[in-house]
Amino acid sequence: MILIIDFGSQYNQLIARRVREHSVYCQIEPPEIDIERIKSLHPEGIILSGGPASIYEKKSPRTASGIFELGIPILGICYGLQYMVDALGGEVIRSKKREYGFAELTVKRDGGIFHGVSGKTKCWMSHGDTIGRLPRGFTITASTPNTKVAAAQHATRRLYGLQFHPEVVHTAEGKKMLENFLFPICGCKRSWTMKAFVREAVEEIKSQVGDGRVILGLSGGVDSSVAALLIHRAVGDRLTCVFVDNGVLREGEAARVQELFKKHFRINLRFIRAGKLFLKKLKGVADPERKRKIIGRTFIEVFDREAHRIRDVRYLAQGTLYPDVIESQSTFGGPSAVIKSHHNVGGLPRKMKLKLVEPLRHLFKDEVRLVGKELGLPDELVWRQPFPGPGLAIRIIGEVTEKRLAVLRKADVILLEEIRADNLYRKLWQSFVVLLPLKSVGIMGDQRTYENIVAIRAVTSDDAMTADWARLPHDLLGRISNRIINEVRGVNRVVYDISSKPPSTIEWE
Ligand code: XMP
Repeated sequence: MILIIDFGSQYNQLIARRVREHSVYCQIEPPEIDIERIKSLHPEGIILSGGPASIYEKKSPRTASGIFELGIPILGICYGLQYMVDALGGEVIRSKKREYGFAELTVKRDGGIFHGVSGKTKCWMSHGDTIGRLPRGFTITASTPNTKVAAAQHATRRLYGLQFHPEVVHTAEGKKMLENFLFPICGCKRSWTMKAFVREAVEEIKSQVGDGRVILGLSGGVDSSVAALLIHRAVGDRLTCVFVDNGVLREGEAARVQELFKKHFRINLRFIRAGKLFLKKLKGVADPERKRKIIGRTFIEVFDREAHRIRDVRYLAQGTLYPDVIESQSTFGGPSAVIKSHHNVGGLPRKMKLKLVEPLRHLFKDEVRLVGKELGLPDELVWRQPFPGPGLAIRIIGEVTEKRLAVLRKADVILLEEIRADNLYRKLWQSFVVLLPLKSVGIMGDQRTYENIVAIRAVTSDDAMTADWARLPHDLLGRISNRIINEVRGVNRVVYDISSKPPSTIEWE
């Protein structure tokens, strides 16, 4: 495995994903990690990440002294390089100006990190301070017009540093550089495959749970579904999944989950029809935050009640992913590894005193999908677009009623049919319909109508942190609009949302 020490760079998850793309397992740890723990992880190599700090700041992050004496190859990136230089007796020059953007890299010394890399290649810089003097034994391996020490190495100690970011796509041959670090330098093996992951995860769940019983809140999304299949493989009937129909699901969603998990995978599934209860509590409520809170709280209530009906449950399974774990680890000194309380099934009760089973806590989303495929999850679910915990309730602006839900569901089915027919479903991060609390005048036949307006929302995104409105073809938009107005009673106008995030959000509420 490769250990990545997190000095706070915005690109850290990217470094981890790049390493994993080479089928090498890696783990991100905060700089406070102590040397004994580092040794116990048996890393083949260590990457010191970039970070926003300057080595001259009082509180600039530092990691276990002695890391350079372990004899393990180390690659310092940006701040990671500066930290290495400073720690080993070199000099970092304080700078007020940042160098940011593309630079042409001239490779001075072939081999090592630059084995097989062109003599001149584009790299991506983002740094303030620069290296003034290298520690003894180090040599410059690459420069740019502005940065003399763009890369350096101590070949016999196998210490390497890059002032630029090899992990971002803008560094043209960054992939090759990381590959050189992982294989010839560290001697890693390409052993991180999803098949191997499944095998190991199943063993791990077995040893954690023993003969205990596990409960899991199934939401119908990818994460909880994959977690369910994995745990089911490990403990069989001792897993009970609970699916709460909260009344604000999409058309056919509840039935699909039942069919797949109960009939096809033969998993113990408790299916709770709680729609009436949720809708009763949502009656008269229009404020988005109140809707969210009511749904969250009611979910916990219902789930908790059900959990108490299952005898001897000691474990609660969750589909927590690695980005959540990393985000909740502190970088500079707070409490580490606090698992966020909110989650894809809407925040499960902490007071339940159950031990957590989180088999996906080391995986990125794209890896979870691959594990899903490995476990036989149908494509339809593996590639499902995200659906928010509060469901259609936050896509009906204003009060949620059965009648308005029925209108929205019908429109949503049409939208998804048309998006799929144009093969766009997987290309879009999300595509859905929003029902507005407005009416407008229309004409149908010879009659005046005064009906609802719906908005279409379709966005592209990598991670939902930012999103762009999708440039859907006009013909497709036309077909969707025609069909919704013709087929959904109560709608006489369709509009298209052309806002990006930020400043808008993906969901309307
Ligand atoms: P926003 O609207 O904040 O949404 O741009 C970002 C992403 O998060 C999803 N979302 C939720 N998912 N529970 C969830 O599980 C929630 O309460 C929730 N609210 C928003 C949203 O669909 C989008 O993918």
